Amino acid sequence: MKCCIVTLGCQMNQSDSERVRSVIEGMGYEMTDNEEEASLIGVVACSVRQKAIDKVYSKIHKWNQWKNSRPLVTFVSGCILPADEVKFLKLFDLVFRMNELPELPEMLQQCGVATEYAARHLLDGIERLDERTDFWQVDPIYSSSFEAYVPIQNGCDKFCSYCAVPYTRGREVSRASEDILAEVRRLVEAGVKSITLLGQNVNSYGLDRKGEEISFAELLRKVGEIGNACEQEFWVYFTSPHPRDMTRDVIEAIADYKCLAKQIHLPVQSGDEKLLRRMNRNHSIDAYMKIVDDIRELLPTATIFTDIIVGFSGETDEQLQSTAKLMEQVGFNMAYIAKYSPRVGARSARWEDDVSPQQKSERLAILAEIMKRSSLAHNMGMVGQTFRVLVDGADKRFDGALTGRTEGKLPVRILDAPEGLIGTFQNIEITSAAELSLAGKIA
Ligand code: 5AD
Ligand code: SF4
Repeated sequence: MKCCIVTLGCQMNQSDSERVRSVIEGMGYEMTDNEEEASLIGVVACSVRQKAIDKVYSKIHKWNQWKNSRPLVTFVSGCILPADEVKFLKLFDLVFRMNELPELPEMLQQCGVATEYAARHLLDGIERLDERTDFWQVDPIYSSSFEAYVPIQNGCDKFCSYCAVPYTRGREVSRASEDILAEVRRLVEAGVKSITLLGQNVNSYGLDRKGEEISFAELLRKVGEIGNACEQEFWVYFTSPHPRDMTRDVIEAIADYKCLAKQIHLPVQSGDEKLLRRMNRNHSIDAYMKIVDDIRELLPTATIFTDIIVGFSGETDEQLQSTAKLMEQVGFNMAYIAKYSPRVGARSARWEDDVSPQQKSERLAILAEIMKRSSLAHNMGMVGQTFRVLVDGADKRFDGALTGRTEGKLPVRILDAPEGLIGTFQNIEITSAAELSLAGKIA
């Protein structure tokens, strides 16, 4: 019995998949990457990305044709909008919500009647998404031996007007800190080198269970203590925080512990306050810059990454210029710049998408140029110095080279290095720098 799991989405979906895999292996299935030899095919997908959903449709039609010639059961889960769930019910044997994962073996056994089973559950409504506790009890089968994601929270209460996540994943729920810390401890003991704490809105961790649960800064400190108490070298990241909940004590915690990586991903989305209000982000530019100043003061070596949306409904050229100015001021090491696209379910989907595709491309190019310039300036300053690098793979575009990342998550091409180093830390002397990347050799 073989099962193939197809993951189409972000790190959170990948992390969810690791737990799905664990339950399915527990049922006696062997995993395969080859859909053609699987008798069970599962999709973990994300409705927030239209491309992912389009791909699900093209794949399920193909799989349903295969059913004419061989036995095959299909299921789908992930962060799926209710509207897509209803459509998937007709196409898949089973649609379930991630919080129902512990019941998956039972649901699969009932397959055939499973569509009805799922339908009954879907009718219970979005509140059911809150019940993640049992899901988190499932031990994942990690896809890498040296890098791991640890979910600390699910869902989001922020309701940014462009975003569908609060509708696909429901309200914010924090995972018990004891469980998070136990998982981190296990990973460290197993020799994992990079751990990313995951959530839609990580720094509001614990706020849904005030008085019962610790804060995000306290959670980071406890993770930091795990690092201090052992010999192992490892880096802990988190993604993504919201500027509104980014308190100075979070940055102080990172400064105080060696294992807390000096890298901050802080989505800004826009450099214009009026647009930020329209996006329902509700923070000022001054507040954002104050966080950046705190980072520069307390974590002088930290890299700063961000997310930006161009061409949001109503965005003017002047507003784009404000974003450009903010980018110049901060000097981001990386900016994931996305062209706005309306997402079903999100509030802004009802507003006019009034920036033309061509304008969106032009605006993206303007910001990408600033991004490249600031990254190059930063990377040039690294040439000649030696940095700790986590070697993470073979370089597909350069024979004999490996790839790795610095603590600040800057990608490094490591020349003339043996594959046996993958999954280890190495001291790398940086020999050259380019926009968005570095190259070096083992020191
Ligand atoms: N259009 C474009 N980008 C979006 N993002 C979220 N929703 C949209 C949308 N409707 C981007 C944001 C967010 C990142 C994960 O995806 O920048 O931070
Ligand atoms: Fe929540 Fe806003 Fe992030 Fe969407 S973009 S997950 S609504 S904080």
